[in-house]
Amino acid sequence: MSEPRFRHLPVLLAEVLGSTPANSKNLLDCTLGGAGHSRALLGKFPKANLYGIDRDPTALAASRHRLAEYPGVTAIEQASFLELPYWAEKWRKPFDFILADLGMSSEQLATPERGFSFLQEGPLDMRMDPFRQVETATQILQQRSEFEIRRLLQTYGEERFAPQIARAIVQHRANAPLVTTSELAELVERVIPRKFQKPNFHPATQTFQALRMEVNREPEEINALLDFAIKNLQPGGRLAIISFHSLEDRPVKQRFREWERPCRCPSDLPRCVCGLQALGVSLQRKPIVAGAEEIEKNPRSRSARLRIFERNATCFPGSDKEYRN
Ligand SMILES: C[S@@+](CC[C@H](N)C(=O)[O-])C[C@H]1O[C@@H](n2cnc3c(N)ncnc32)[C@H](O)[C@@H]1O
Repeated sequence: MSEPRFRHLPVLLAEVLGSTPANSKNLLDCTLGGAGHSRALLGKFPKANLYGIDRDPTALAASRHRLAEYPGVTAIEQASFLELPYWAEKWRKPFDFILADLGMSSEQLATPERGFSFLQEGPLDMRMDPFRQVETATQILQQRSEFEIRRLLQTYGEERFAPQIARAIVQHRANAPLVTTSELAELVERVIPRKFQKPNFHPATQTFQALRMEVNREPEEINALLDFAIKNLQPGGRLAIISFHSLEDRPVKQRFREWERPCRCPSDLPRCVCGLQALGVSLQRKPIVAGAEEIEKNPRSRSARLRIFERNATCFPGSDKEYRN
């Protein structure tokens, strides 16, 4: 059978492989996509067990196919980060390496029917799992109040013209719903004054990002991933997270810092009395970014940021000294 088409180049591949603990036995890929990272991980650790999830059924089908030859593949499930605790109970494994390569795949972006791209005409959908998720981007724009639309554009898009865009959406829908990507992209382009539009940056970029994050409840998902990962890493295990914009990177950076320095005592106390102990260390102060050669080959890697956290070898969940949060 021929391989299903799945357009996606894994980013920061060498750096991800370089961040795995030696002799890793149990690997978890939380964002299988086209299995680019997973295949390379199994190439490096042929005897390891690979567990993988993705919430997108198309990605899952491609991964199943692409990983079929690898004996180490132990479980591939359609699931979102919020469902990881359910699967972990079945798998009963702490992991040596957990990877999450956040956001969208190039395949999702390049498929007009998925509605993620402002460059291609398609339905304003944006659900990563069109079978189990109910609310589409059109429904959000149709049903939320002007205030709610404005707030989501400000919060998840950091869009300066959120009030004007929200007003224009509500005025538009009084006549007809916004149902296609181009209708929304053109509306945003009309609303943002030309002198504030940046070269080589589509004016609807932040609006689309905000809607995608709301449709897929991405902030909640990322928090669930972080909660899960720290409890399911083997002592000495590592968590690697690739993010693509500041709203993805910020919670990762904050949580890594809390795990590394959890003490909540006032700074003027001579010594710690809260008893909260570090859960491990963040391996870099600054995130790892793609080099010029990779950016040349894969422009999408330009905004990728990789952060790695290594779990303490001595203190793990369930012990007296468990991090309390
Ligand atoms: C950037 S792609 C991953 C590409 C993959 N690393 C590769 O090498 O092919 C991100 C993938 O994560 C999935 N995804 C995003 N958010 C998710 C979530 N909350 N739960 C599960 N999968 C998610 C998307 O469906 C997409 O397939």
